[in-house]
Amino acid sequence: MSGDRIQLIVNQEPTPARAGQSVAAALLEAGYVAWRRTRHGGRPRGAFCGIGVCFDCLATIDDVAARRTCLVEVAEGMRVQLDGEVER
Ligand code: FES
Repeated sequence: MSGDRIQLIVNQEPTPARAGQSVAAALLEAGYVAWRRTRHGGRPRGAFCGIGVCFDCLATIDDVAARRTCLVEVAEGMRVQLDGEVER
């Protein structure tokens, strides 16, 4: 059922999420503000557009690199690896 509490593993840490939400929404709800850095300048990036256009929200999900977290629905036990320095 949508909204049921589930658990993700974010950078090896158990992290609560709600069924039906995107990985980006779960990360934001867990307090993550930025979860990757730009190649040039090292500027912080996280969810910006929320609709799959900007590619700012990339992360490795279940060992698949460069997934747009705003387009991926959470699943119980999903492993999310945030590459680089995160801001919370
Ligand atoms: S927030 Fe823009 S592509 Fe995910």
